[in-house]
Amino acid sequence: MTPPVDATATAAWHRLGELAEDFRPDLRAWFADDPGRVDRLTFTAADLHVDLSKNLLDDEVLAALLALADEVGLVERREAMFRGERINVTEGRAVLHTALRAPRGTVVEVDGHDVVPEVHEVLDRVYAFAEQVRSGAWTGITGRPISTVVNIGIGGSDLGPVMAYEALEPYVQDGLECRFVSNIDPTDLAQKVAGLDPETTLFIVASKTFTTLETLTNARLARAWLWEHLQRADAIEDSDEARLRAVARHFVAVSTALDKVEAFGIDPGNAFGFWDWVGGRYSVDSAIGTSLAVAIGPAHFADLLAGMHAMDEHFHHTELAGNVPALMGLLNVWYSDFLGADTHAVLPYAQLLHRFPAYLQQLTMESNGKRVRWDGSPVTSGTGEVFWGEPGTNGQHAFYQLIHQGTRLVPADFIAVAEPAYPLRDGDTDVHELFLANFFAQTKALAFGKTAEEVRAEGTDEAIVPARVFPGNRPTTSIMAPALTPSVLGQLIALYEHLTFTQGIVWGIDSFDQWGVELGKQLAQQLTPAVAGDEATLAEQDPSTKALVSYYRRHRA
Ligand code: F6P
Repeated sequence: MTPPVDATATAAWHRLGELAEDFRPDLRAWFADDPGRVDRLTFTAADLHVDLSKNLLDDEVLAALLALADEVGLVERREAMFRGERINVTEGRAVLHTALRAPRGTVVEVDGHDVVPEVHEVLDRVYAFAEQVRSGAWTGITGRPISTVVNIGIGGSDLGPVMAYEALEPYVQDGLECRFVSNIDPTDLAQKVAGLDPETTLFIVASKTFTTLETLTNARLARAWLWEHLQRADAIEDSDEARLRAVARHFVAVSTALDKVEAFGIDPGNAFGFWDWVGGRYSVDSAIGTSLAVAIGPAHFADLLAGMHAMDEHFHHTELAGNVPALMGLLNVWYSDFLGADTHAVLPYAQLLHRFPAYLQQLTMESNGKRVRWDGSPVTSGTGEVFWGEPGTNGQHAFYQLIHQGTRLVPADFIAVAEPAYPLRDGDTDVHELFLANFFAQTKALAFGKTAEEVRAEGTDEAIVPARVFPGNRPTTSIMAPALTPSVLGQLIALYEHLTFTQGIVWGIDSFDQWGVELGKQLAQQLTPAVAGDEATLAEQDPSTKALVSYYRRHRA
């Protein structure tokens, strides 16, 4: 991998700095003076209609951002990723989540080896397994079909599957339910298995590494729960052999470490593999999505992959001036490095997307929250904004106040679909229309605001006019699609993957490692004996940690 370009040393960066200095955005005037603005800044990417016109963007800024992409070599880096080069430098790995959704017959090589046939081999096994569970052919130890699938995983082995399961709830087969256990807080497992019938419950242990403390602990708790409840119901004998047979019918695994799966006691025949060139946060489209494939079925899962592939094609083959993920990524750089935005809101006007912002937090922040470049040199600009969000309209009644009238710049992506999942009416009113009126109103209010004159014209008492002024020029991107189909969800996921990639390339960082999660893991292991009462380990701790652990020990019954 060639060394990263220092973006801050480029002519385009310098130009963007100059433009930012005198930048006086005026969306009212820009729209009034330029009737072509909406058309020029609205793009189609697969089924997504993406309106960038309400961003703080003029022709000069856009030109400078595209020049920046050019100077940092975005196109060459994109090619390197799609070609299977080891662009995850610090882990020495290729980055090929795009191969997970490559159609059968496509060739994607890692070190001269075409990986697409094995991708489809695993997909075929996942699909066959999903069909068995869905049809009732896969039964639990007492011969009853499965009604609940419990996915045990964390981070990328949880957030993608749970987000997509929630988003695609209308596609879930009647009589099947998925639950997701992630947290090592024992409350999570306890709550998720509460009320379940062990005879009809199937656990999927999803862990890329199969070493993750949370997941393995929860998997052992789940196994103990299964044995205890099956025995209590006289469904199995009290013998090791019976317990093993129960695990074989009630546990499957997804991992890149199939040896560790076997060591846990799960038959490797009931395990689905993937590869080290799939990052955890990029893995919902691998076998990590098995719970989802069971819930929505192979055909819909294949549609999800097709949607992702359609966005891959757009990102791979569209020139940057019309390339939606590239443009959105470059805009994010403009906001965070030149206009001082520290955060970025994602506001789905689709209740079914309520976990999408949480999913994006791992995707964007684990990818781009870095302070050195991929060659180890320190970055010389800000990186990785804080992504956050909640579905509209709930957010409107909570934090939108700050976005509209606060002192901070919060660029926001609004996402909506035309066709509602549940087309309910309130008398004569189509409630989805009420809902979308809010989407349109919010993006309009944020862009154009309300002047003091307009406030006065409503007869407002002069003393509170300032409090009722909306400054406007608050940037938003509006993303719309015909309906929240599996394909559209796939397109949205891949859109954010590629805009995250774009930002990472500008910053010259390795968006595919995650060393920042390691120190806490190590320290937790070292601290565990102290928490359990080991005085010698406690004595080695810093004063604050010692005091906190001591507080815990005094208050734990
Ligand atoms: O701790 C962070 C992380 O490594 C994520 O990147 C990953 O998605 C998650 O843990 C879970 O890892 P695994 O799938 O190996 O259990």
